[in-house]
Amino acid sequence: MAEPRSRAPKDQPGRLADPAPFPEDVREEKKLRPSALDDFVGQPQVRSQLSVFLQAARRREEALDHVLFHGPPGLGKTTLASILAHELGVEITHTSGPVIERPGDLAGLLTNLGPRGILFVDEIHRLSPVVEEYLYSALEDFTLDILLDRGPSARSLKLNLEPFTLVGATTRSGLLSSPMRARFGVTLRMDFYRAEDLTHIVKRSASILANAIDDDAAFEIARRSRGTPRVANRLLRRVRDFALIKSDGHIDLRVTREALHLLEVDERGLDEMDRRLLDILVNRYDGGPVGLAPLAVVLGEDTSTLEDVYEPFLVQEGFIRRTARGREATRLAYEHIGVALPARLRGGESGADQPELPLA
Ligand SMILES: Nc1ncnc2c1ncn2[C@@H]1O[C@H](COP(=O)(O)OP(=O)(O)OP(=O)(O)O)[C@@H](O)[C@H]1O
Ligand SMILES: [Mg+2]
Repeated sequence: MAEPRSRAPKDQPGRLADPAPFPEDVREEKKLRPSALDDFVGQPQVRSQLSVFLQAARRREEALDHVLFHGPPGLGKTTLASILAHELGVEITHTSGPVIERPGDLAGLLTNLGPRGILFVDEIHRLSPVVEEYLYSALEDFTLDILLDRGPSARSLKLNLEPFTLVGATTRSGLLSSPMRARFGVTLRMDFYRAEDLTHIVKRSASILANAIDDDAAFEIARRSRGTPRVANRLLRRVRDFALIKSDGHIDLRVTREALHLLEVDERGLDEMDRRLLDILVNRYDGGPVGLAPLAVVLGEDTSTLEDVYEPFLVQEGFIRRTARGREATRLAYEHIGVALPARLRGGESGADQPELPLA
């Protein structure tokens, strides 16, 4: 009998939200990634805005305005960048902020782009200040001033570039410099998906993987996927393996529930890491407020992963609040992990005296 291919149940039970790609993500991501805007489900505002900009760029026969996507990992930023290239019939080059070390690297990327091509820069908040400076003139008037040689023989060379589109993606728009941010004509925020949209995505992925799935099973996976298509596809693959071993491969509600139980994904879609975070916040820090750094140390996790991956979902679902003094557990957090409410949360009051901070 075939072994399940999944890695997470064996060595990473509770980390289904992890943004680092799993090996099978890399293999199957291409297959599951929609290439046309019409196949991109959810994010109605983002989609309708993009559709207008795409039509205008096509009609004017110009390069699309520079676009910035921001929002938590796995919501489709990279996917949308590829969709833009596909819809415009132009080339796309993928790179990321920390990879472009010197201005020369940037010049190389930009001079090699095809006509009206797209340069996709992931983690754009991590561009070095020097490279960013060079990028400004490229974005504004499609020129690059490159310094040749150093010292007394230094000369500057003006390179004229073909019009191109920069598509930037970041999980931290708050860390983007304001001059950089101002250079994007279009800034689009990606939000967590509704369970209905994720159900659609799960069914689409199952059909690409040629796996039968019942509607209620697709919805069950969707509603426990942290509003995130990447997590939905991961859960689908795990449930699919489970269905193959435990029954005839058909994914029904019973098999789905059993598999999700085994994966330690609970009724609200929280994984083991989320629950540990709530547990530490409630039991060790008395519900907070506590800063992110001490939480990260106790959890053995980077602050940036907590901030980018775990916190946005827990805040959106109402399990924690971010205040100026730190993170606080809400009534829902206590109820979810089954701990009696402290005095400050008893009696219908939220008990918090601090205004809530918006997410970056
Ligand atoms: N709207 C969607 N419809 C269908 N599938 C989607 C959608 N959005 C994302 N996906 C799927 O989810 C996976 C993750 O999406 P993507 O890599 O584009 O996320 P991201 O926002 O770039 O994440 P990160 O911030 O980690 O780079 C993709 O492989 C794609 O198959
Ligand atoms: Mg991406």
